[in-house]
Amino acid sequence: MRRVVLVLVGTLVLMGGCAPAVPSLSSVHAEEVASQTQSSGDCTQPRKTKNAPGVFQKKKNPHTSPSAKKDGKELYHKTAKPFTCETCHGVKGDGLGDPDFESTPPARNFTCKATMDSLSDGQLFWIIKNGSPKTSMPAFGGNLSDDDIWKLVSYLRGFSK
Ligand code: HEC
Repeated sequence: MRRVVLVLVGTLVLMGGCAPAVPSLSSVHAEEVASQTQSSGDCTQPRKTKNAPGVFQKKKNPHTSPSAKKDGKELYHKTAKPFTCETCHGVKGDGLGDPDFESTPPARNFTCKATMDSLSDGQLFWIIKNGSPKTSMPAFGGNLSDDDIWKLVSYLRGFSK
C-alpha cells in the first residue's frame, strides 16, 4: 500500500513539477535539438568540456563500493536536482536523453569506452560539481555533496564496463 502511494506522489510531482518546464525549455532549444539529435550517442563524440585543474586529475575516488554505486544510481536516475542526469545523458547513459531536454552540445555518451577511459575520476567529479561552461551541463555543487558526486562518478564508470 505504502509503495502505491509513493508511486502516485511521484507521478503527481512529475506532472505538476516538471511538465510545465518541458515546453519552455523545448521551445528555446527546439532548433538546436533538430540539428543535434543525429550526433547524440556517437562514439567517439567531439568533446566541448574543458579539462579540470591538474590537482583534480589525480584525485582518487573515495566511494567505489557497491553501495556507493547504488546511491549514485539513485541520484543519476531519480533524485539529482535541478534535473536528473538521465534527462540528458539517457537512461542507458548513452547520451540519448529526453528529446525535449536534448542538450547543447549532445550530452556525454558514458557508454563510449574510448572517451571514458581517457577521462580521470577527478575530471568527471570536477565537471559534475562545477558544470561545463558554454554547454548545458549544469553545476550540481549547490545541490549535491562531494560524497554524492563521487558516488555518481562510480556509477557512471559502470556504463562503459
Ligand atoms: C541539461 C542537460 C544535462 C544534464 C541534466 C546533465 N548533463 Fe552532464 N553533460 C551535458 C552536456 C551538454 C555535457 C558536455 C558535452 C561535451 O563536453 O561535449 C555534459 C558532460 C558531462 C560530463 C563530461 C565530463 C567531460 O569531461 O567530458 C559528465 C561527467 C557529466 N556530464 C555528468 C553528469 C551527471 C552525473 C549529471 C547528473 C547529476 C549530469 N551530467 C546532468 C548535459 C547534461
